[in-house]
Amino acid sequence: MISPKKYARTAKRLPNGFKTINEFFNHIYHDEEMIWMGQNTNHLHEENDIMCSMLESIENKDYCKYPPPEGFPELKDLILEDLCLNNRDNDILVTAGGTESLYLCMNNILDPTANVITCDPGYLIIDNFASRFADHVKSIPIYSKDNDYKLTPELVKQNIDKNTKLISLVDPLNPLGSCYTLEEIKEFADLAVDNDIYLIHDITYRDFAMKHHLAAEYAPDHTVTVYSFSKICGMAGLRIGAMISTPGIINSIRSTVINDLGTNIVAQKGALVALKSKPGWIDRIKNTTRSNQKIIKKAVDNVEGAFIPVYPSEGNMLVIDLHEAGVEPVEVADYLLLRKIFAREGAYTSKLFGHRYLRVSFSIPEACVRKFAVNFQDAVEALRHK
Ligand SMILES: Cc1ncc(COP(=O)(O)O)c(C=O)c1O
Repeated sequence: MISPKKYARTAKRLPNGFKTINEFFNHIYHDEEMIWMGQNTNHLHEENDIMCSMLESIENKDYCKYPPPEGFPELKDLILEDLCLNNRDNDILVTAGGTESLYLCMNNILDPTANVITCDPGYLIIDNFASRFADHVKSIPIYSKDNDYKLTPELVKQNIDKNTKLISLVDPLNPLGSCYTLEEIKEFADLAVDNDIYLIHDITYRDFAMKHHLAAEYAPDHTVTVYSFSKICGMAGLRIGAMISTPGIINSIRSTVINDLGTNIVAQKGALVALKSKPGWIDRIKNTTRSNQKIIKKAVDNVEGAFIPVYPSEGNMLVIDLHEAGVEPVEVADYLLLRKIFAREGAYTSKLFGHRYLRVSFSIPEACVRKFAVNFQDAVEALRHK
């Protein structure tokens, strides 16, 4: 018999009527009317050069060949350029999403005596990956305005010990949308250098933020930057991302690579054009995402007891706290799902505070956000009086 593993839970509740998570997602995926506010995906790109480049790649039957195993050099250069990290001595691996990068970093950096600092609420798959390779994960509670709803350098200092090997910084943070200032990033960089600890800087939502700072600028020898095409580029289903660090660190991580025949070639062709065309679309995507957020805020302000802890969110998702509103986030999520709106109760991103909030993402057409705004208010009204 294969022994059960004690990996950190990723908190999955089966929505009503579904036997498995996969069955649930299959249902959501195939319902064309479903409004997708549950996974921080971006539905704002229309038919554009990104799409055309992928169609062209398919027509050329590029997919018959394996791509260069670490990514097309042109794509690697464009990613470094996008981050303005091309003037430094950096190396990069293109991976099947930020997810693969996170896993490979954990596999390479951690050992069975190590511990890892993450935060709660946070992106729980990071805790899960860390727990596969480290002794334990210190998930620091951050759901408080005392620390601006984020893992602060001060909180890290209080929790660091001689076996701490890695700090996970998701910035902006999924689910809250909190983001780090330059001073905070510099402090984390100093902490990493002084204690010889690695920072995994997950910048999946970077481009939605008004201002964003890279830890790699300040602690290059102690940072791995995890990059994704899923959110701002709207390419979640294509599964493409990357990791960037010094040649020494990347070389070490290379030894843990699984996908050694490379990342999806069509996705890489799309990613190349996404970066080349980015100046032409980024403002529209950001502005629509920002203005959608205002519609949600207005709806939340109409609901007694509900509030948004971090507003404006610097990501394309936010948290709506419902604790004082007298409704359960799970019930609100189920209510919305019946009205074809997919949102997520807090348990997906928090073990400690999941009962308090609903998470919604909003890189979707404005009309869909308006439908959410009406249904959200109806949901609380209906469930409160149950
Ligand atoms: C913080 C964070 N990192 C990584 C990912 C996964 O990114 P990818 O789709 O590139 O694997 C997500 C997805 O929601 C995320 O929220």
